[in-house]
Order: sequence, then structure tokens, then C-alpha cells
Amino acid sequence: MLRSPRGRRGPALRSRAAAAAPRTRGPAPGGHKMAAAARRLRLPRAGHGISVLTAAPSALQQHRQVHHAVIPHGRSGRSSVSGIVATVFGATGFLGRYVVNRLGRIGSQVIIPYRCDQYDLMYLRPMGDLGQLLFLEWDCRDKDSIRRAVEHSNVVINLIGKEWETKNFKFEDEFVNIPQSIARISKEAGVEKFIHVSHLNASMKSPSKYLRNKAVGEEAVREEFPDAVILKPSEMFGREDRFLNHYANMRWFGGVPLVSLGKKTVKQPVYVVDVAKAIVNAIKNPDAKGKTYALAGPHRYLLYDMVEYIYAVAHHPFIPYPLPRPLYHFVARFFEMNPFEPWLTRDKVDRFHTTDMTFPDLPGFEELGIEPAPLEQKAIEVLRRHRRFRWLDAELEEVKPKTQPV
Ligand SMILES: NC(=O)c1ccc[n+]([C@@H]2O[C@H](COP(=O)([O-])OP(=O)(O)OC[C@H]3O[C@@H](n4cnc5c(N)ncnc54)[C@H](OP(=O)(O)O)[C@@H]3O)[C@@H](O)[C@H]2O)c1
Repeated sequence: MLRSPRGRRGPALRSRAAAAAPRTRGPAPGGHKMAAAARRLRLPRAGHGISVLTAAPSALQQHRQVHHAVIPHGRSGRSSVSGIVATVFGATGFLGRYVVNRLGRIGSQVIIPYRCDQYDLMYLRPMGDLGQLLFLEWDCRDKDSIRRAVEHSNVVINLIGKEWETKNFKFEDEFVNIPQSIARISKEAGVEKFIHVSHLNASMKSPSKYLRNKAVGEEAVREEFPDAVILKPSEMFGREDRFLNHYANMRWFGGVPLVSLGKKTVKQPVYVVDVAKAIVNAIKNPDAKGKTYALAGPHRYLLYDMVEYIYAVAHHPFIPYPLPRPLYHFVARFFEMNPFEPWLTRDKVDRFHTTDMTFPDLPGFEELGIEPAPLEQKAIEVLRRHRRFRWLDAELEEVKPKTQPV
């Protein structure tokens, strides 16, 4: 249900708010229904010393009392109830849609704070059962709007990000200030689990400002919410990505410029669906609290080999040429003048030419029970649209990119 622009609560949210408010005195409205639900589930009645939720087989270890409507029940699926009430900041982005879908399909309530036109998030609506997705207008600088978005949730997921700086939001805002505010307010609101998505190459020593701020953001979040789960995915690929599509679209410029011909950069891209699965599994796994996970795909490739493979799958001639970094930055400056979405930025040049770090000491997909899909298996989903008509349905040939040792 949409919030009105003036900030009044829509009916669905109002009922959720009323429902989630802790009941202290007297029989709660609808209490008989609650008791009936508890009887059906063979659970002790609330108000008899044991909270209904402590007895419920929840995916989360709940400490706050939550309305009976979120007691896990059903056979799992969109119309069941998983017990997860998650606020997903950044749900309208690339990863966000996969996360919302994954949460919706196990029957979670998802609160989606948005700042765009409501018609721009229509595609999210079928991802949850009727009334399970609640849309809420928010402003990242308005603490009350953040509080309203998180106060009834047991999980908060931060996917806020931007690949370029705007005059209103610098990388520092996107990756440090906003996550910090969300983490602080979530902690104050008693949220059980906070999931923050950072980047595999986040480092204070990175040439990319994006990645430097990601590193600061990780620490800021940990400080505010020590039990936060931090996920560090490498570059993600998937249908709407800005990675494989970016390289495939370079054909319109007559060839693919690569710093040192891409022979000094090693990439380990990860499939976006695997990252979405990792988020859901991290919610369900009580041991994930306070941990940092490195999420990279199963194979490493030289950037050159990876881009060659992209062109082989897309059935276009691969014309790479070396471009020195300063010249690449010079070209990127022109794209940065685009007032809308700059296709290339200097920061993106640096980020894409950064070798993916390895973290043998950090847990990863395996600990979350996921086998990540290799690029060779899923790239076709992204690249089919780049094929010419006569190749559209062509089978995936036995082209395989050369891999590097992990
Ligand atoms: N894509 C990758 O390959 C990759 C790899 C590693 C890590 N990550 C990280 O993973 C997270 C999700 O990535 P993504 O690719 O899904 O990002 P994305 O497509 O750019 O989406 C970012 C989301 O954040 C929202 N947002 C950005 N700035 C905002 C602001 N100032 N106020 C309110 N909302 C704001 C966007 O809302 P609007 O739609 O309204 O703009 C959008 O919903 C990000 O933190 C990103 O840094 C991404």
C-alpha cells in the first residue's frame, strides 16, 4: 500500500503498525483469532507467560513480540508466512528486485522504502502475495522516515548505492552516511538482523573513491550495529547488470578499450541471484550474526579473457585495444557530463580494472549453503539480447573462457 506524499500512513501500513504494537493490557482486539491460530498451530496462547513467537518455529530468533500474522506457517511459498518482516532499502535497484522476489516467494512481508515515482516500482508488486509488499516513500536525510520504515521489521537490508556521484549525493553519503543512519536507527528500533551489502574490493587503498567509501561504510555500520551481517559481493552479473551489458555495449564504439589490454586484471564475477539467495540464507542462519562474508563467483578470469568470452557468446567480433589509464579517464570525463546516467565514469574505469581480492579467512557462499553459478552457465541470460537476430536462438557453443587459479 502506498503512502501518501504528505507522509500519512496508508491503510495497510496503519494496520501493520497497529498490529505490531506490543500489547500490554487486556484482551487484544482479534485476540480470539490469535488464540485460534495458536490452537491450530498447537502453540501456547500469548499472554500465558510464553510469547507466541518464542514457541513458533521461526527462521529468526525473535526477542520482540510480533503480531500473530507473522508467526511462520504454511507450506512455504508466496502465500505462506515465513515470519520475516524485512525492510529493503534500495529495493528498486538491480540486486533489490531479486532480494524482494526471494523474500516474497517464501511468504515474507517486505517494506519497500522508495523515492522514485510509484509507477517505476510496479514490477515489484507481483513479487509478494496480496498485502505482503508495503511501499513507503522515504527520504534518506529524514531520520523519521527511516524510523517509520524499520520500526515494525525484524530484518533490515541495506542495498543503497550509486555508481556515480550526483550534486546531491556523494559516495560518502551513499556508502557511509546513509548506511550509518539506517544501522543506528535500526539498532534503536530493536531490529533483530541488519544486513549490509558492501563490495569485495572495498579498501582504503583502492584508487576508486567508491571502494574507499565502501570500506569506511563497513566500519561505520559495524560500529552502529555490531551484529550486522556484512556481505561483500564482487561485480554482479545478471539481466539488468552494468557489467556484462557494459562490455557488450562497447561494440557501438568500435571496439573494447582495456587498460593494459585487460591482462593485468583478474575478475571473479558473481551471479546476482546467488547474492540474493545469500541474503535470504543469512537472514535464516542465526550463526551469521556479526560475520562478514566474501561472495565471489566460482571462477577467476583475466579481464581480457572474460570480455573475449562475452563477445563470443554475443556473436560479435571482439576488437580489443589497449588504452592507457589517463586517456581512459579523459574519455570518461566526457561521459560524466551526462546529467542523467553516465555510461562511464573515471571511478568505474578504476573499479573495473581492479583485481578482485581473495579472502581465504572469510566465510563465503559455502557457509551459507549456496553453490554459486559460474559465468559460463548464466552469461547467456544477459547476453542473448546482444546477439543479432540470426543468432538469437543459437545454442551456447562450447566456448569457455580461460580461468585463473582461485
Ligand atoms: N552491482 C554490482 O555489481 C555490485 C557489486 C558489489 C556491490 N554492490 C553493492 O550492492 C548494493 C546494491 O547494488 P545495485 O547494483 O542493486 O545498486 P543500484 O542498482 O544502483 O540500486 C541502488 C538502490 O539504492 C537506491 N538509492 C541510491 N541512492 C539513494 C538515495 N540517496 N536515497 C534513496 N535511495 C537511494 C536506488 O534508488 P533509485 O532507484 O531511486 O535510484 C536503488 O534502489 C549497492 O550498495 C552496491 O554498491 C553492487
